[in-house]
Amino acid sequence: MCGIVGYIGFREAWPIVLKGLKRLEYRGYDSAGIAVMNGEKQNIYKKAGKVSVLEDYAKAFDCSGNIGMGHTRWATHGQPSDRNSHPHTSNNGQLSIIHNGIIENYATLKEELVQRGHVFSSDTDTEVLIHLIEEIQLMEGTDLLESVRLALNEVAGAYAIVIMDKASPDRLIVARKGSPLVIGVGSGEYFVASDATPIIEYTKNVIYLNDNEIAVLTKEELFIKRLDNVVQTPQIQELNMKLEMLEKGGFDHFMLKEIFEQPRSILDCMRGRIYPELGQVQLGGIKAFADKLKNIDRIIIVACGTSWHAGLVGEYLIEEYARIPVEVEYASEFRYRNPIITEKDVVIAISQSGETADTMAAIEMAKEKGATIFGICNVAGASIPRLTHAGVYTHAGPEIGVASTKAFTAQVTVLTLMAFYMAQQRGTISDVKMRELLTELETVPDKVQSALASNELVKYIAGEIKDASNCLFLGRGSGFPVALEGALKLKEISYIHAEGYPAAEMKHGPIALIDEQMPVVFIATNNSSYEKVISNIQEVKARKGIVIAIVTEGDKKVKNMVDYSIEIPDTDEAFLPLLATIPLQLLSYHIAVMRGCNVDQPRNLAKSVTVE
Ligand code: F6R
Repeated sequence: MCGIVGYIGFREAWPIVLKGLKRLEYRGYDSAGIAVMNGEKQNIYKKAGKVSVLEDYAKAFDCSGNIGMGHTRWATHGQPSDRNSHPHTSNNGQLSIIHNGIIENYATLKEELVQRGHVFSSDTDTEVLIHLIEEIQLMEGTDLLESVRLALNEVAGAYAIVIMDKASPDRLIVARKGSPLVIGVGSGEYFVASDATPIIEYTKNVIYLNDNEIAVLTKEELFIKRLDNVVQTPQIQELNMKLEMLEKGGFDHFMLKEIFEQPRSILDCMRGRIYPELGQVQLGGIKAFADKLKNIDRIIIVACGTSWHAGLVGEYLIEEYARIPVEVEYASEFRYRNPIITEKDVVIAISQSGETADTMAAIEMAKEKGATIFGICNVAGASIPRLTHAGVYTHAGPEIGVASTKAFTAQVTVLTLMAFYMAQQRGTISDVKMRELLTELETVPDKVQSALASNELVKYIAGEIKDASNCLFLGRGSGFPVALEGALKLKEISYIHAEGYPAAEMKHGPIALIDEQMPVVFIATNNSSYEKVISNIQEVKARKGIVIAIVTEGDKKVKNMVDYSIEIPDTDEAFLPLLATIPLQLLSYHIAVMRGCNVDQPRNLAKSVTVE
């Protein structure tokens, strides 16, 4: 969590850093701060609240200078407040730092530093790091780079940092381990950020700093070395991102824009990967493992949150078509057990951001035990794609709304392709069936477009149930993970308590909650569990619950028994989650807007969860 931005060059740093922080605000938004340096004069401004609070506050002050760094925070150590906001300074005020990550041994280090006379002005782990660097500089007589290197060798934890030194007003020092950091390479200028979004309008040339690397940036040059003192050759890559992707494009919120982008993002995800006329799926990213897939015993899917829900959809599809047993695990639970993993296992890690700490730790553990790791990620060059043996990008484009929408459907699309690809390798699907499925899959983006046409109806229904305090989401088969995802979307952006359940489980407990105040959303499309779901709907109606049903176009039976129904186009059961999710995303969105919630930046959340 937390977003960091830095600039060194010939332009005024303040506007670049400020705009960059607004782009990164999805990573955390409880406080923000910026430092700018003009010669040896340094000004630091920091405020609790969003970046706009800092912007208004700093208008009255001097923000000039060609070197700057800024931070938008998601609090870990110490409450959101002005004093805990970054940048933090050293004891003598010479050095300052911004940091994304956690210094795990900060308490021990702080104790030692206090004994040596250091006085701290915040409760953060970050301030301890900059004091440690200063202490090493003073004790060892080393220059700043060496002091940073020695200090980083002493800390345990994760970091992406930028450091400024009033005594060296021509440079920034940056370093990373476990938290993302991208350097934008301009002409006579460098940019630093947690992801490429603050950089894209200035340059497409970037360097993804690797773990355990430190870089020194001056206007003219960049120098990288590792923590073990080995000098590195920078690898410049070209960004595949457009500025328009980072703007709202006429929508009121990023979330709504991203919901409406799904016909395109699903298409982009399938592009060049499916060949219906040949009955073939091609996945270049995992091709090298095609033979291995013929003999694997098991697949373990690890993920968190929405990505975990996508994993559950993947379980249905892989078991159905490739006939491989699948286990879907919360990364955070999996990593703290002593799970049985063998060299014959394939672990699929799913992550939109590619930075989720628990998912990364689960990958590392499974890798140590000899498993083959595949990644499904949205952010190119993020940490997870670099940890895995192979993988498939989702190509959904940047997802700015904190609640995941288009990344989820893209993950489900990739899992669908993976299930078909594995089935192809293992001969568990006939050519005719494969052709039939792929021909239908090709129509899904248009069908998603049709599902979006329910927007006005969904908005009306949202108005009818927006004041509920609780809500249930029920589905069977692959409708169950869709129900879980619907409930998560509603609770995270509208703050209405919501639960997702397998519809048949309702009678084992949740049915006690049902009364005339309780909206119950059913995935009641015309597929193998249709009749069973109808029985569950009747059980809710008998107890006066308010039923909202997602039904197949033309359905009459369910429509006649529920309070509200929303139609989605008919499709093969395999693709049902891609369509049924759409009205649920819209429902949460409209309810949250009507309740006056901050849809794109819900309270207490952050887009990229880099803490454990
Ligand atoms: C919910 C949401 C989160 C993420 C979770 C994992 O809308 O976005 O539940 O899905 O934090 O994040 P990634 O996919 O980046 O690993």
